[in-house]
Formats: sequence, C-alpha cells, structure tokens
Amino acid sequence: MKFFADTADIDAIRELAATGLLDGVTTNPSIIMKSGRDIWEVTKEICEAVDGPVSAETVALDAEGMIAEGRKLAQIADNIAIKVPLTWDGLKACKVLSGEGRMVNVTLCFSANQAILAAKAGATFVSPFIGRLDDINLDGMELISDIRTIYDNYGFGTQILAASIRTVNHIAESARIGADVITAPPEVIKKMAAHPLTDKGLEGFLADWAKTGQTIL
Ligand code: E4P
Repeated sequence: MKFFADTADIDAIRELAATGLLDGVTTNPSIIMKSGRDIWEVTKEICEAVDGPVSAETVALDAEGMIAEGRKLAQIADNIAIKVPLTWDGLKACKVLSGEGRMVNVTLCFSANQAILAAKAGATFVSPFIGRLDDINLDGMELISDIRTIYDNYGFGTQILAASIRTVNHIAESARIGADVITAPPEVIKKMAAHPLTDKGLEGFLADWAKTGQTIL
C-alpha cells in the first residue's frame, strides 16, 4: 500500500519523506488556498521533496481547458499527476492526457459507476472520497470495497487512491479491502504509530532501566 500526504505543507511533507514512508502527495485548490502559497512555487517544492507522484488539480470546467491546464501543470516536474474532476469533460480530458503518457488522477469520485468510467478513460488513479460520503450518512468504505471488486473483475489497472480520509480506521480498513494508495493529512498518518499500550510499556521499561543505574551511551 502506498502512502500519499494530502497537503501542501512543505515542512510536514519533508518530515514524512525523511522517514521513507511517503510515496507521493495530493493537492487540490482548497489545499493550495489553505497553504497561502503560489501554486507553481509550492508544487515545484513538493515535487522536489518527494520521488513519487504529486497531484496538481485543474480548475477549468471544459475538457479543452482541463487539457491545456494539465499540460501546463505537467511542465512543473516529471512526477506531476494531473488531477481532473470526475465529470464528463474530466473523463474526456483524462483520455487525452493519459494517451499522452501523463499520469492522471480522476478525483471527486463518489460512485462505483464513476470509478468504472475513470478506469475506461485510462486514469492512473481514481480518488473515491470516503469522509465526504460518511459526512452525508453514506458508507465511504463500501465504495472502496465495490471499486476493488469491480476493478479485479475486469483487470482494470487504475489504482484506487482512497481519499478524504479522516481517521486512522479509514486507513486500516482501506488496507484490509485492498486500496492501492491512501492519501491522508500528515497528522492522521502520524497517528497510526500511536498506541496507549506502547506508551505504557515504554514507561515501564524506562522506570525499570533507571533502577539498574546503567547507561547505554
Ligand atoms: C484527495 O485528493 C483530496 O485532496 C482530499 O482527500 C479531500 O479530502 P477532504 O474531504 O478532507 O477535503
């Protein structure tokens, strides 16, 4: 399973990248807005900080505009994945851009039917949004599971990029189902390491070690 960071916070990206746990980054217009940075400048820095795919999103609504924006975004670095929305025009743009050998991430996927179309349009990644489905009392994990089954049924090569992840349970469940990639805020990825029994165990070991009066270094 690959881990992408869903952020444009360059310090957080560098910290995660230094652990060797980071396989890529996803951004979107809201993430760029929150960063307060210039899209070209921050996206270039991110592309230099990670080896894997960095998703940068188009904002045009028509296919022609998305294609033009996608080609321009792809000039930032070789590891740009062009993000287009799962609309009819987004699918047309996906077909053209993926046909040019570019990585394409089809985002804002909320149904199995949408995911089928993304795969047939040649998407490198499809991004089903778990948290936003949960927010409206639907089941985001069920969508990940449905897409996994369908893609396996037909041998589609599009990678399932589980997105809109809010909790560590979303990550474990995505792994259980077999999502290829998860993208999550860095703080959620870091929470995966936390366990109260780890903290308690460490506290006990250190207390006993202090009683020995010994040192290691
Ligand atoms: C995915 O690529 C999106 O950037 C992201 O996961 C959206 O998450 P949100 O629903 O928390 O905004």
